[in-house]
Amino acid sequence: MQKNKTTVLFVCLGNICRSPTAHGVFRQLVEDRGLSALIETDSAGTGAYHVGEPPDRRATAEAAKRGYDLADLRARQAVAADFGYYDYVIAMDEQNLAGLRGICPSDYSGCLAMMTDFTDSYKGEVPDPYFGGAEGFAYVLDMLESACGGLLDRIESSGVKG
Ligand code: 4NP
Repeated sequence: MQKNKTTVLFVCLGNICRSPTAHGVFRQLVEDRGLSALIETDSAGTGAYHVGEPPDRRATAEAAKRGYDLADLRARQAVAADFGYYDYVIAMDEQNLAGLRGICPSDYSGCLAMMTDFTDSYKGEVPDPYFGGAEGFAYVLDMLESACGGLLDRIESSGVKG
C-alpha cells in the first residue's frame, strides 16, 4: 500500500526512556515546522518488559521541563511488520540495532540507522539512562534534540511525501 506520509519509528530496549523521549521531541519538531500532516512518528522497544506502560516518570519529567509532553505514549514491542510501514527505523544503541537487524526483512528498502547518525555533535550510542539519575535523562535529551533536528533536516531535504 502506498502511504502519503513519511513514517519514522524510534527504537530502544524498553520503550519507556529513550525512544519515547525521541518520539516526543521529534513530533514536536515536526509540528513546529508545520509538517504534522506529512510525517508520522512512533516508538517501540526491542524488549517486551514494559509493554503497555507509560514512559518512565523521570523521562516524562525531564521532557516536560523542555516543553515536550509524553503523557499519551505507551510502550510496545518492535515487530518485523514495522519494516513494512516505517521509512526510517532509528535505533538508540548497538544492542537495539542488532535486535532490529534480526527481525528486518532482507528486502527492506527504508533506512535502518543509529540515532547519532543524524548529528555531528554526538557519536555512538544514546546511553541507557534507566539505572542512573536525572542527569542521565537530561544528557539523553540533549542528544535527542540534536539528532531529531538533524533527522528532520535529512527528511526535508530528501523530500517529504504528501
Ligand atoms: P529504554 O531504557 O530502553 O531507554 O526504555 C530501559 C528501560 C527499562 C529497562 C532497560 C532500559 N529495563 O531493564 O527494564
